[in-house]
Amino acid sequence: MNLPDLKKAKIRSDEEVKTIEATNLKSNKFAGKKYFLKTYGCQMNVHDSEEIKGILKNLGFSETLDYEEADIIVLNTCAIRENAHDKVFGFLGRVKHLKKEKPDLLVAVGGCMPQQNSVANLLKEKYPFVNIVFGTHNINDLGKMIVDAKSKQDIEVYSIEGNIYENIEYDRDSKYCAWVNIMYGCDKFCTYCIVPFTRGKQRSRKMEDILEEVQKLKDEGYLEVTLLGQNVNAYGKDLDTSYDFATLLENVANIGIERIRFVTSHPWDFTDKMIEVIAKYPNIMPYIHLPLQSGSSKILKLMGRRYTKEEYLELYRKIKDSIPGVSITTDIIVGFPNETDEDFEETLDVVNKCKFDGAFTFIYSPREGTPAALIKDSISMEVKEKRLQILNNLVNDYSLEHNKEYVGKLVKVLVTENSLKGTDKVCGYTDTMKLVNIDGAKEDIGKIINVKITEAKSFSLDGEKVIFTNI
Ligand code: SAH
Ligand code: SF4
Ligand code: F3S
Repeated sequence: MNLPDLKKAKIRSDEEVKTIEATNLKSNKFAGKKYFLKTYGCQMNVHDSEEIKGILKNLGFSETLDYEEADIIVLNTCAIRENAHDKVFGFLGRVKHLKKEKPDLLVAVGGCMPQQNSVANLLKEKYPFVNIVFGTHNINDLGKMIVDAKSKQDIEVYSIEGNIYENIEYDRDSKYCAWVNIMYGCDKFCTYCIVPFTRGKQRSRKMEDILEEVQKLKDEGYLEVTLLGQNVNAYGKDLDTSYDFATLLENVANIGIERIRFVTSHPWDFTDKMIEVIAKYPNIMPYIHLPLQSGSSKILKLMGRRYTKEEYLELYRKIKDSIPGVSITTDIIVGFPNETDEDFEETLDVVNKCKFDGAFTFIYSPREGTPAALIKDSISMEVKEKRLQILNNLVNDYSLEHNKEYVGKLVKVLVTENSLKGTDKVCGYTDTMKLVNIDGAKEDIGKIINVKITEAKSFSLDGEKVIFTNI
């Protein structure tokens, strides 16, 4: 990657970090004004957007879902694949038109894309109507940047991570389920992946800060927390302490919050102790997202994934045998440079052996600055698309097969919202992360209820509420 001509890093003292005035900047300068926020990418970005919403709220803005009526448009971007880029630039085209009608409209672009030097430069040269450009390491600057915004573009992107901020005032999307960052960045440098460049090196939050946040969420009535990190199993390895992810998980479980989830688990750091802790505590949900990426040991090596097909299968088996009823989902990339038919067959073989509950599947997208992007590729896009189709069909068959096993069974569902499947329906997730649409029961939003599953589809279940009465 070209060395970014972005600023290096912002380091603050521990005291400043604890109080981050900039993040929690309060002002009524924008009272009555509206913001439109669009989030691309992973859960990390979704949670960062909760921080951005908190910042905007503290400045007096309220949210609108119609970008044309907004006074400020904020895009929290993702750089993981080329189509994520395309979506952002496509939307910016529409914003450019709107800005002609509304010259006072503020436009801010942040997140993973501006962390790439080429994108920051492109925004500077081709998108001068964007007022504010910020990165993943200085979301907390956004409030000040908005207050100070001028018509001239203000680019504040730091190429190196600074320190971790605490006491962030999130405006959370849900009153029942909360994201909790346990670490930032990633040190794995898988050869295809841009994340270590856009998010910096791994930094774990101190265990006491995480536990304090979870306790507070529980006291506020949250029923579920999802511990977030690019590679949660490596939690603590960068800290000068003896504790690891299993210890953290056990301590979070002991707080007694109803449901605990975590994403994402890299197979490399998955320890026996973790498996034991997950199996032991009923409030740690029996659901693991375990990205495979490829079933070919040759491709896995080229990807820098640090495990073989056999090691993945062994870990998979161990998890299945040790955690009763566990569901496992995965991520798979097809069309890594020079992936042969035989390599692809190996991927299908792992899918057939593991019969995943679900899988996110992607066609490999070369990312500028990553080692894999330099490999000359002999496989055509047509072949890659065909492979994706074959893989998706197989993966969906297994999802449906798993879902069918639920029909007639009783499950616990945390009902979180109205269902998109009809005005008289609500929805939520089982312990094992299956989406269930339920008839009626609007008064049950925010509760964990017993549901009998009536029908299985590939991506969701239908069910009805069951009330137990003493006869
Ligand atoms: N930290 C997580 C992954 C985050 S990115 C992990 O290691 O599991 C989410 C998924 O995007 C990855 O698991 C991978 O399957 C996919 N991905 C990452 N880079 C990609 C690329 N260059 N092309 C296609 N898919 C990619
Ligand atoms: Fe990317 Fe690999 Fe890190 Fe996941 S573990 S974020 S795929 S470099
Ligand atoms: Fe995308 Fe950044 Fe997440 S690149 S996948 S939003 S870490």
